[in-house]
Amino acid sequence: MILVTGATGRTGNQIVRVLRSAGLDTRCLVRKGSEYYWLNDTGASYFFGDLRDPVSLNRALRDVKHLIVASGVRLESTDNHHGNVTQDGHIALFDAAKARGVAKVVFISCMGVAHPEATGMRHLKAAEDHLIASGLPYTILRPGLYAANFADLARRVEHNGSTFLPGRPDVRVSPVHGRDLALLALACLEHPDARNQILEVGGAETVTVKEAFDLACSVAGLEPHSWPMPPAALRVASGLLRPLGRRWQHRMQSLEAWFSHDSAVDGPALYARFGLPLTPLRDALGLAWEQRYPGDDPDARNEKVVHRQFTSIIYEPGVVKLRDLPQGPPPRRD
Ligand SMILES: NC(=O)c1ccc[n+]([C@@H]2O[C@H](COP(=O)([O-])OP(=O)(O)OC[C@H]3O[C@@H](n4cnc5c(N)ncnc54)[C@H](OP(=O)(O)O)[C@@H]3O)[C@@H](O)[C@H]2O)c1
Repeated sequence: MILVTGATGRTGNQIVRVLRSAGLDTRCLVRKGSEYYWLNDTGASYFFGDLRDPVSLNRALRDVKHLIVASGVRLESTDNHHGNVTQDGHIALFDAAKARGVAKVVFISCMGVAHPEATGMRHLKAAEDHLIASGLPYTILRPGLYAANFADLARRVEHNGSTFLPGRPDVRVSPVHGRDLALLALACLEHPDARNQILEVGGAETVTVKEAFDLACSVAGLEPHSWPMPPAALRVASGLLRPLGRRWQHRMQSLEAWFSHDSAVDGPALYARFGLPLTPLRDALGLAWEQRYPGDDPDARNEKVVHRQFTSIIYEPGVVKLRDLPQGPPPRRD
């Protein structure tokens, strides 16, 4: 059994799909309020839990041989943030995995951990360090930017006519597609070359941020209208947004860590080592552009599409809406 955390996230959902298409027994740790219904058609099982609840982690890890960690905090909230999730939650997860005798942990981290001035990256690094010190067999994958990040920028152009381009437009990046990263995570579970390694991950080509953005817009059939938001401007914005809470400040710090530093990686050499294919950049951007997440889709989000397992009706993905469900639980018979 393989347990995947963050299964409802951008990285995690690709991992679940890859594991299930390989026919592997997969359990997903999901939070009760998550939009997990989209995992239904993968045939993976769910376990309701939370990185902030160590008891749930211990139970989720029962009979688990391999653990793939793809959880993370994109935008913090008062009770779900880098301190109690990115760092403490992952540390609790690794302790529980150790206690359960898990054979291998693959941790999806981030190349940004080299920049501890960003709060999220500092907490992520602390989680990495704990995993390394735990004695659990591990592989830490540190991807740089995803193709999806550039598709996100193109979506801003689609909606607003232009977008800010964070960081330095001339910085070199090797955007990777989520599915390629998922394939590598699977290969790392048992490949001897991956044992107790930290691997920086990149895609098929290395380009500048501006080139990747232009290509993402071209794939989407859009004019690449953007205005620069250099590191100094990100820092000013971070300070101005401080009164709105730390989460925006931390988000700006992460954007600076990701978009202002060279994250070029020889992706083809890495993937060749593991005998894996790599999606060409243009195709990766096209796939990322086409893939819409329920979280990105205002209709799905507003209508709260749910699956039918709670109403004991046969499931049909995306058909039943919250408003169609019967009110309250079924009447008790005793
Ligand atoms: N460009 C990128 O996005 C990028 C690039 C390089 C590396 N990475 C790394 O990849 C990893 C995953 O990032 P992502 O972008 O895929 O994240 P994401 O799309 O924001 O997904 C985060 C996942 O973590 C889950 N989660 C959040 N808080 C949790 C909690 N308290 N307990 C259990 N699960 C919780 C979320 O569940 P809910 O659905 O319930 O919210 C979601 O499934 C992170 O380590 C990140 O640093 C990301």
